[in-house]
Amino acid sequence: MQTFLELAKSRYSVRSYLPSPVEEETLNYILECGRIAPSAANYQPWLINVIRDEDLKKKIQETYNREWFRQVPVILVFLGEHDKGWKRGDGKDHTDIDIAIIADHITLAAAEKGLGTCWICNFDSAKCAGILNLPDHIEPVAYLSLGYPADSTDQASRHLKRKSFEEIIRYDAY
Ligand SMILES: Cc1cc2nc3c(=O)[nH]c(=O)nc-3n(C[C@H](O)[C@H](O)[C@H](O)COP(=O)(O)O)c2cc1C
Repeated sequence: MQTFLELAKSRYSVRSYLPSPVEEETLNYILECGRIAPSAANYQPWLINVIRDEDLKKKIQETYNREWFRQVPVILVFLGEHDKGWKRGDGKDHTDIDIAIIADHITLAAAEKGLGTCWICNFDSAKCAGILNLPDHIEPVAYLSLGYPADSTDQASRHLKRKSFEEIIRYDAY
């Protein structure tokens, strides 16, 4: 049985996909792993738009113009419902944090099933909102590409290049 550390290390940003579709059962499993994610005050201010229709996919692909993104079998669009997100006393909206958690659950569940994902935030959010006809309070926060990796050796060079313990952990004081 895979440990959590092994699973977390096996995930990397996949930017090369096979055309094979993602089986419905597998898709539902990874979406369920997202559905149970925690959120601030349990408000769950999120929607996931699963995009497989070729015409709609082409439009979404135009909002992030990369060659590899045009080969993605499934695109998950994470929508933040800012009217539903928890706001702290000082007004800080936690919707984006909640979206990051649900999306991260999904990247790890996908890795468990041998599927690849890549986070995408550098897309044209206004254009995406127009394509999906979203009301003002709903923001496309992130995309995840999803599909079977074309080449498991194609790991991003940044993968596992992480800061050291000493750089990021502080015990008891800044
Ligand atoms: C919030 C967030 C936004 C990201 N946006 C993009 C993006 O727009 N395009 C892209 O190719 N990768 C994007 N990435 C992937 C990161 O570049 C990648 O996770 C990082 O370099 C570490 O590599 P690894 O995922 O292979 O471990 C994003 C990742 C995160 C967490």
